[in-house]
Amino acid sequence: MVEKHQFLGVEAILASPRMRDLLQQVRKAAQSGASVLLMGESGSGKEIIARAIHHYSARKLKPFVDLSCAALPEDLVESELFGHERGAFSGAYAAKPGLLELAHNGSLFLDEIGALDPRLQAKLLRVLDTGSFYRLGAIKKTHANIRIIAATNSPLHDSIHSGAFRNDLFFRIGQITLTVPPLRDRPEDIEALASHFLAQQNPELRFASDAMMALYAYLWPGNVRELRNTVLRSALMAKGPLLHADDIVFSMRALASFENQPKDFGIAGLEQAMIRRALEDSGGHRQRAADSLGISRNTLARKIRSYGLAAAVTTQPQRRLA
Ligand SMILES: Nc1ncnc2c1ncn2[C@@H]1O[C@H](COP(=O)(O)OP(=O)(O)O)[C@@H](O)[C@H]1O
Ligand SMILES: [Mg+2]
Repeated sequence: MVEKHQFLGVEAILASPRMRDLLQQVRKAAQSGASVLLMGESGSGKEIIARAIHHYSARKLKPFVDLSCAALPEDLVESELFGHERGAFSGAYAAKPGLLELAHNGSLFLDEIGALDPRLQAKLLRVLDTGSFYRLGAIKKTHANIRIIAATNSPLHDSIHSGAFRNDLFFRIGQITLTVPPLRDRPEDIEALASHFLAQQNPELRFASDAMMALYAYLWPGNVRELRNTVLRSALMAKGPLLHADDIVFSMRALASFENQPKDFGIAGLEQAMIRRALEDSGGHRQRAADSLGISRNTLARKIRSYGLAAAVTTQPQRRLA
C-alpha cells in the first residue's frame, strides 16, 4: 500500500514497511515535543521527515524555519540564527531578526548540524537551555520558544570523540533520534517514488517493466534525490510514452558504480524485482506468477522463501504501470 502525505506543501510517498514504521515513530516523536535528531544518508528524505514532525506537532500552525549549517560560513550562520541590530558589523545597515526569533513557538530545522562551529554550538546550547539570546550587537535579550529538529548524515560519535561536536549539545538536540533508512534498504519504495516523480514531470509517461527492473537493480547511493533526478532526466529524454530500460538516464556516477557493483547483486536483485513484480501483476496468484516467469510453482515458492519475500506477497497488489 502506498501512503501519500502532504507535509508543509511537500508530497511524501511512503510505500515500504520501513517507512510506514518510521511514520508511526514520527507521529509519536512529534507529539512528545522533544527535540529530534534525524540520521540518514544524504538524499534519503530527512528534510521531508523534519517537515512531517512539525506537521504532526502541536506547533503545526506556527513557523517551520530551516537552516543548513554547512551551506554558509560561520559568521553568516551566526547572524542568520541570532539576527543583528543596526550597525552590529560593517554592512549591517538595518536591524534583522534571526531565524531563532522567526521560529518562535514553531520548529527550527538545523540541517547538517555536525558542521556547526563549536563556538556556535555553545551559543545554541545556551539558547535552548535559557530560551533567550542576544541579537548580534544587542543589549536587550530576546526570548524564543523553539523546538529543534536537527539532521546529520554522518553519525556524530566520531566528532564527539574528537571534540568537534559537544556532547552536551548532542544530548540536548537528540532527546529522540530517528533514522531514515537509505533507499537500497527499502526497495519497495522505488516503484512508488519513481512513478510519483514521473507523473509529476509528465503524466502521460509510464515505465515499462524492464525500466522498472533497471531502477530496482540499482543501489541508489544518492538515495531519493538521485532517483528523482534520474526520473526527471529520463522523462525529458523520453522517445515515447513508454519508458524502457535504455531510456533511463543514470548519472555518470551511477554508471560507474554499476560497474563496481558486486555481480551477485545484479542477478539476485533483478530476480527479486522480477518475482515481486510478477506477484503483484498476478494479484499474489503464485501459479500465474510462476507461469509468467517461466519457472515452476515450486521453484517460485523456494525463491520467495530464500529471498524472504513472503511478506511482500501478502500485501495488496500495487497499481500496474506497464
Ligand atoms: N518519501 C519521499 N516522498 C517523496 N519525495 C521524497 C521522499 N523522500 C525524499 N524525497 C525527495 O527527495 C529529495 C531529497 O530529500 P531530502 O529530504 O532533501 O533528503 P535529505 O535531507 O536527507 O538530504 C527531495 O526532493 C525530496 O522532496
Ligand atoms: Mg537535505
